[in-house]
Amino acid sequence: MDHFANTGGELHAEQVPLAAIAREVGTPVYVYSRATLSRHAKVFREALSALPKVHIAFAVKSNPNLAVLRLLAKEGYGADVVSEGEMNRALAAGMKPEDIVFSGVGKTRAELIAALRAGIGQFNLESEEEGVELSEIAVDFGARAVCTLRVNPDVDARTHAKISTGKAENKFGVAYDRAADIYVRLSALPGLDMRGLAVHIGSQISDLEPSRQAFIKMGALMTALREKGQSVTHMDLGGGLGVPYKADDVLPTPADYGRMVSDVAQDWGVTLMFEPGRVITGNSGVLVTEVVRVKQGTDKPWIVVDAAMNDLARPAMYDAWHDFAAVKPSGESMIANIVGPICESSDTFAMARDIDAVKAGDLAIFRTAGAYGATMANTYNSRPLVPEVMVDGDRWAIVANRIEPAAILAAEQVPDWLD
Ligand code: LLP
Repeated sequence: MDHFANTGGELHAEQVPLAAIAREVGTPVYVYSRATLSRHAKVFREALSALPKVHIAFAVKSNPNLAVLRLLAKEGYGADVVSEGEMNRALAAGMKPEDIVFSGVGKTRAELIAALRAGIGQFNLESEEEGVELSEIAVDFGARAVCTLRVNPDVDARTHAKISTGKAENKFGVAYDRAADIYVRLSALPGLDMRGLAVHIGSQISDLEPSRQAFIKMGALMTALREKGQSVTHMDLGGGLGVPYKADDVLPTPADYGRMVSDVAQDWGVTLMFEPGRVITGNSGVLVTEVVRVKQGTDKPWIVVDAAMNDLARPAMYDAWHDFAAVKPSGESMIANIVGPICESSDTFAMARDIDAVKAGDLAIFRTAGAYGATMANTYNSRPLVPEVMVDGDRWAIVANRIEPAAILAAEQVPDWLD
């Protein structure tokens, strides 16, 4: 459920007409709903309430906007970060260092040092090599780094190949069969405090069965480690729960997910950790765009909008579907191709889609753009970096400025020797 609805003939974010935001800020612009974000944060927490000990670390990568992070900090969420930049954002938003989990397959030495200095709560190690390096650094610091070992359970999440992470051929974690031995060796290192395991099999998961299989395998590994005398007090089950991108998509709900986790892990006797991203932010945002022109096609008309693949990369990267709707629908519909202005054919949002009829100058939205939207934006074709707005009831604020091409140009220079 979200708070983007048509009232009085035009689309609003909560009580604010999207047209009012577009008029003042210009387009394209991302608009987030505070009520939707808070609701999703509460619903996800509530879904896990049957579990004894839970820690939720919001996957910052899905939407790292400072205002979004502040809101989630106030909801009691920690953060799952994958770079020093994300860590600093989470800290700037007021998240406690001990509530931050540092994930990521290629944490650099500099990042490991910065995270140790910041006192972050947990490192999810992706390899034995990373553990050895972190131990050395921690010893130099006179500290012990609290860690889990990320395991690759070799389970197919049955999602898009590019966002699937739990198969043996994926780069993530250590091989399931080698994990127990690696854990034993890492826990003998002087700079590490190994406290558990981590797993994350993929994103936009629409079927809970693969996750259940992966969690069962993790439970078996936990038991095997305990039998070897190892301590396992924390199990990080990652993120990945999908959201409906189409009005009639039926996906497992957070409550379904919570029941499944409870079935598998109720008796593990650990703190269960979660790293939700999209399920919190996905439906909390839309991308508002203006139709530049409608161009006649050989088959279907081309709706050329002022948003492009640099603003919302998901359709170009994953053939992702984002519902399209007119801000002031006329009641008519049309079948059309929706494209951006960028000079490549991947800049296509939809082909032969049945949509609200639109014409040049009309405003429209792409829905479910709150996750992996603004954060994956870039300035390809020397376009501005897309701004972000947050709405709260009848008020709204710009939470990220549009960065103009002139500012990016100003950061470049020509060496003397070219003149
Ligand atoms: N934890 C880890 C270790 C992850 O790698 C990810 C996402 C998450 C948590 C959060 O997953 P979520 O709950 O949001 O599914 N750009 C792609 C998605 C990439 C996901 C990367 N990892 C997209 O637009 O679909």
